[in-house]
Amino acid sequence: MEKIFVCSKNDLPEGEAIKVDCQPEAIAVFNIGGSFHAMNDKCSHGNASMSEGYIEEDGTVECPLHSALFCVKTGKPLCLPATDPIATHPVVVENDSIYVLLK
Ligand code: FES
Repeated sequence: MEKIFVCSKNDLPEGEAIKVDCQPEAIAVFNIGGSFHAMNDKCSHGNASMSEGYIEEDGTVECPLHSALFCVKTGKPLCLPATDPIATHPVVVENDSIYVLLK
């Protein structure tokens, strides 16, 4: 697994997201209630950036383009128009730094 540095914990406050430009595709990292979660940034339904979506305290993020709701932990779509999941990635925190592990 490749370990990608995201940012310092202090730079990703609760209820916010950050986009990481890495290969093969950009990743969105979310802080929901102090827990960090990562998924591919591109929505499975269209060309929208999930890091620009609306983050809910219940652990979901709403796509900013057509409002499909996804679980940030599993990447599963919870309502239409999206039907395909978004790939998720493990997140680790070491010495106050956030990393995503890419398969
Ligand atoms: Fe995300 Fe359509 S692009 S729901």
